[in-house]
Formats: sequence, structure tokens, C-alpha cells
Amino acid sequence: MNELGFFDGEFINLTEAKICLEDRGYQFGDGIYEATMVYNGHCFALERHLERCVRSLRALQIPITYTNDELAAIHEDLISKSGIKDGVIYFQITRATAPRQHFFPDKVIPHLSMTIRPTRLHTDWQENGIAAIWVEDIRWLRCDIKSLNLLGNVLAKQKAHEKNVGEAIQFRKDTNLVTEGSSTNFFIVKDGIIWTHPTDNLILKGITRSILLEECVPKLGLTVVEKAFTPEFALTAAEAFVTSTSLEVTPVTSISGKTIGTGIPGKITKDLQAAYKDLVAKTCHQ
Ligand code: PDD
Repeated sequence: MNELGFFDGEFINLTEAKICLEDRGYQFGDGIYEATMVYNGHCFALERHLERCVRSLRALQIPITYTNDELAAIHEDLISKSGIKDGVIYFQITRATAPRQHFFPDKVIPHLSMTIRPTRLHTDWQENGIAAIWVEDIRWLRCDIKSLNLLGNVLAKQKAHEKNVGEAIQFRKDTNLVTEGSSTNFFIVKDGIIWTHPTDNLILKGITRSILLEECVPKLGLTVVEKAFTPEFALTAAEAFVTSTSLEVTPVTSISGKTIGTGIPGKITKDLQAAYKDLVAKTCHQ
């Protein structure tokens, strides 16, 4: 059960120094990342993560130097070499190492680094829900790219951490519209209908979000509206929840001190949470 790393073709100890000082990932956040859950020794929804990785690389014009099959094989090797059954595999690809200048270097050789670490689900959060806070969304206008530039997200999550709550839910000040959590997608349930921000440039198209909308929602016969809404509208909802790879479906019971619905996780949220867990179990636990 040891955490393990990988850098440009070699499996390494996480404490081993490998990255060059002038890696553009360090200097500009010039790269992309993905994080995938490992349940019972199997990666969940890896194909979707790898497809999103390709989309992010294309959007940033970073050359694709690994096939999805190669990346999948490294994921499997990390699991078998580490012996980790339940964990998270993180990978990032940076554009290149080159003397610092903003425009792309002539010679681009991307770097791939990966880690696997054991992890446990936040079962208490999933059971009882989390409190959250509102924060202004100060991020750039390409939040659809899973890039390494995460300072807006980091500052938002730090505010939540300082308030001792689980997540910061962001809204754009110019439009007063809710976008997403600092590392999650955000949903409300009002009059039996699920509302969430559409997948444009202002949010990340979460894999958990996609699986929920494409597979769990139809199974439960629920209706979804992909339309932005205000924080005030969200506070009139009966239920709220966030989704992400590591939090799965986690209820939100209050935001900035205002109770959502009755203040306990709602039925539709719980049904979706169970449907998602079912899918994970069917895929990874048979
Ligand atoms: N975060 N929105 C943002 C801003 C995110 O950073 C994430 C994921 C999500 C949910 O995406 P997915 O369902 O694909 O995990 C939405 C990851 C887990 C992270 O940064 O660690």
C-alpha cells in the first residue's frame, strides 16, 4: 500500500527529485491534469478522463505524445506496482522545459508526471452533507479546460477551509449567476427539477456530472435544466449537492449560514448518490 510516482517513462519514489527548474508547469501553470478514482483496484471512468485530457491538450495546443492506451496502461501499472486498491491517480502533462519566455518554445517535449495515493471516501460528508459558503468567481474565462492554473480555485477553497466548511460555491459578480464549486460541480433541486450550470466556458465539464446526467438521471426518470441561476434562487431550493471524482455526490445543507430546504440531505440527492454508487459497484466491484 505505498504511494508511487511516475515521471516521463520511469516509476519513481514520490520524494525523488525529477522536475526541472524551468518546467513551464512551474513557471506558467502551462499544462493540464486529471484525477481518477481507483476502486477495488480498478480505475473508474478512465476513458472519459482520457478523452477530457485530449480536449484540454488540444485547447492549449500542447502536442499529444501519449496514446490513451499508453496512458491507461500506466494507470494499471501504478495500481499493480503500488498495490493500492482504493486511491486516486493524479496525472499532469506540462508543455515543456525551456528558458522562460511567455510564447511557446520551438522545441516542445511535454512532460508526464503521475502519482497514486491511497484514499478514503468522505462517507460522513456523503451521509450528512456539508455546509458551504458563497464566494465570487474570480477565475479566467476558460474554466472548461482542466488546466494547472488553479489559483482562483485555491483561493476559494482556502476561504471555505478557513470557515471550516466543505466547499466554496462560486458566482460571477457581473451576472450574479452561480457557476460551480471550487473543485466540484454544483446542483440544486427545486420543485422536483434538477438545475445546474450549462457546460460552457465558465465551468469544468465534470466527469461525475456527465455520468450523473447521462446515466443516473434517466434511470431515475428525473428532469434536468442546464441553466444558470442566481445565489438567491439557489437558496429557495429544496435540495443542493456537489459532484466530483473524489466526493461523488455530496449533499450541501447550508450555504453561508442559510439552510437549504430542511437542512438535511434531500431524497433526490440521496437517490442520485445511490445510483452513482451502484454504477461504481457494477463497474469496479464485480
Ligand atoms: N476537481 N469543477 C471543478 C472546478 C473541478 O476542479 C472539478 C474536479 C470538478 C468535478 O470534475 P470531475 O467530476 O471530473 O472530478 C468540477 C478535481 C477532482 C481536482 O481538482 O482535484
